[in-house]
Amino acid sequence: MIANANGQLKSDALVFFGATGDLAYKKIFPALQSAIQHGFLDVPVIAVAKSNWSLDDLKRRASDSLEEFGGGVDPDAFTKLSSLLHYIDGDYRDDATFTRLRQELGPARRPTHYLSIPPSLFEDVVLALGRTGCADGARIVVEKPFGHNSATARELNAAIHKVFPESAVFRIDHYLGKRAVENLVHFRFDNAIIEPVWNRNHVECVQITMAEDFGIAGRGKFYDETGAIRDVIQNHLFQVLAFLAMEPPSRIYLDALRDEQVKVFRSIPGVRASQVVRGQVNGYLDEPGVKPGSVVETYAALRLEIDSWRWAGVPFLIRAGKNLPLTTTEVFVKMKRAPGHRHATVANHFRFRLGPDTLVAAIGMQVMDSEDVSVSRHTELKAVTVSLHDEVEAYERLLTEAMRGDQTLFVREDLVEAQWCAVEEILDMKDSPFSYEAGSWGPPEADRLAEDVGGWYDPAPEEI
Ligand code: BG6
Repeated sequence: MIANANGQLKSDALVFFGATGDLAYKKIFPALQSAIQHGFLDVPVIAVAKSNWSLDDLKRRASDSLEEFGGGVDPDAFTKLSSLLHYIDGDYRDDATFTRLRQELGPARRPTHYLSIPPSLFEDVVLALGRTGCADGARIVVEKPFGHNSATARELNAAIHKVFPESAVFRIDHYLGKRAVENLVHFRFDNAIIEPVWNRNHVECVQITMAEDFGIAGRGKFYDETGAIRDVIQNHLFQVLAFLAMEPPSRIYLDALRDEQVKVFRSIPGVRASQVVRGQVNGYLDEPGVKPGSVVETYAALRLEIDSWRWAGVPFLIRAGKNLPLTTTEVFVKMKRAPGHRHATVANHFRFRLGPDTLVAAIGMQVMDSEDVSVSRHTELKAVTVSLHDEVEAYERLLTEAMRGDQTLFVREDLVEAQWCAVEEILDMKDSPFSYEAGSWGPPEADRLAEDVGGWYDPAPEEI
């Protein structure tokens, strides 16, 4: 038996529900190949789905997935993956599927069950795992969306806890698996020069922008029940917010990081309708799966406050949108301007580009202009600029950590509920969103949220 540093025993099988689905194709097979290449995966992988497929069909699908999204098939790693792969074709609502699963698990006693399936099936699958003995000694990994609001998140937590204790539950937010996101914690707490300025005395505002230059990409039905706030703000961008705003976690107990994340959301007075501007890209209503006259947002900008000694009075501006000019997630921390303004024409800033292709951590500074010594020029000191291959890496990392039993990078029950509570009032707004053109920065109406802090910072393409 192999235990990790926390004394947790490593899982001895990975069970993977939803193996024929989209997420599996785009992210999970590439993550499995990569985990094998890195020597992290050496246990049976039991794929489960209802597609009338055979194991050979699944292997073909895995190989196609690796060609398209995994940087190509690595013959050695693929041979290994094929030898580990099992497949059960069965209905998630039929206990016979789970009885077969228990048989297929053979001697495995500590499986990790990964649910990459629609949320409407979570409860049925969890209860069936419990009834058939598959949950004994097991861990469960659950994909987002975790609930639709705070009430449904609570219900889902209660349903999962009928079978799995919280210590065996791993809620995925793949942003927590991104190294560029985790770097925010390193940048803040491993540099003694940052902490003295990281507060209301020096910070003018914090902006987080998640821009995507593509649309809803054929996911009309899902997206029309979701919208930008539920899809990426309540989870991904809130994880980024937590790392930017939290207090330094204690180093002496394991759940310290997760405690600090939760405290951030407990200090946010619920965002009100007046603090949000929603937009809908022109053409959205023509997408298959979208309801006629839908008022679901493909863009949302919000301004929130954190009621703490560190942050009181500092605006946090968060926006996310489909069909914007480029694809990137960036953090821009604008500092207060130097007094006097003799040379300092632009305020200092910290900028973090979190992906998808590049990690940047940069500090905006004023220096003397080399040609005109009477003025200052703005420049950026880049602490790091590197290419990322974060997508696969994030999933590889999260699945491996779950199988090791380390919950640090997973969303705890109270965090997911607190994140929902912060946006509860702005979910399901009935007013029509403002329209915007594809390729623009969203509806100009959002400008008012950032008027008093010099406007929104629009990320630009990054050169490495
Ligand atoms: C997903 C959302 O969770 O995150 C998508 O459902 C979004 O709409 C995606 O495009 C963004 O993830 P990443 O890692 O590409 O920034």
